[in-house]
Amino acid sequence: MSKLKIAVQKSGRLNEDSMRLLKDIGISIDNGKDQLKASANNFPLEVFYLRNGDIPQYLRDGVVDAAIIGKNVLIEKGNDIQFVEKLGFSKCRVSIALPKSDKYNSIEDLEDKRIATSYPNTVNQFLKKNNVKADLHIINGSVEIAPNIGLADAIVDIVSSGSTLFKNNLVEKEVILNSEAVLAVSPLISAENQEILNKIQFRIQSVLKGRA
Ligand code: PRP
Ligand code: MG
Repeated sequence: MSKLKIAVQKSGRLNEDSMRLLKDIGISIDNGKDQLKASANNFPLEVFYLRNGDIPQYLRDGVVDAAIIGKNVLIEKGNDIQFVEKLGFSKCRVSIALPKSDKYNSIEDLEDKRIATSYPNTVNQFLKKNNVKADLHIINGSVEIAPNIGLADAIVDIVSSGSTLFKNNLVEKEVILNSEAVLAVSPLISAENQEILNKIQFRIQSVLKGRA
C-alpha cells in the first residue's frame, strides 16, 4: 500500500509544533531523533526531516508529496508550489527594518541603499513592485547585525517577537508579508497519495477548529 511522504523541518522553530500537530491528529510516529526518516505506525505516512530551505525543491521534484513549511520559505523558494491549509502556528512577518537613528518616510528612501537579507526573491519582488532599485547583500543568518557592522543600510528578515530587532537597535518600517506554517503539496502527488492527504487535511481542520 502506498504511503504519503511528508516533509517537516528537521530542527528549528517549526519542528516542535509540526510534530505536535501530527500527534494531535492521531498519528503516532516512531521517533528516533537522529533518523532523517520515520514511519507512522497507525497511518500510511512517512515523515522526512529536512532543512527548511530544501523543502520547496523536494516538493517540486515530487521527492515528497507534502510538507509542513513556513509560508515565507514557500514564497521565497517555491512560489510555484501550492499550499492547501494554513496551520495557525509559527506566525511571523518578513519586514524591512532600519537603524533606529535613521530617517525613513517611505519605500523610496531605500533607493540605492544596501539591504542585507536571506530573502532575496521576496525583497526583489517587493522592490520591483514599488519601482525601487537597491543593492542586495545576501546572507544566511544573523542578518540583524549587518547595519551595525557597516555592511548594509537596511535589512529584510523575519520578525516574530521583535526582540532581535530591538537588541540590534533596529526598527521595523514595512511588512512585506505575513507568514505562518502551511500545508504545502507537491504538483506531482499521485491520486492515491492525494486521498491520504485529504484524510490528513480533514483531521487537521478538525484539530484547528478545536484549538480556535
Ligand atoms: C530568526 C530570524 C530573526 C529572528 C526573529 O533568527 O532570522 O532574526 O529569528 O525572531 P524575534 O523577532 O522573535 O527576535 P534565528 O534565531 O532563527 O537565527 P538565524 O537568523 O541565524 O537563522
Ligand atoms: Mg535571525
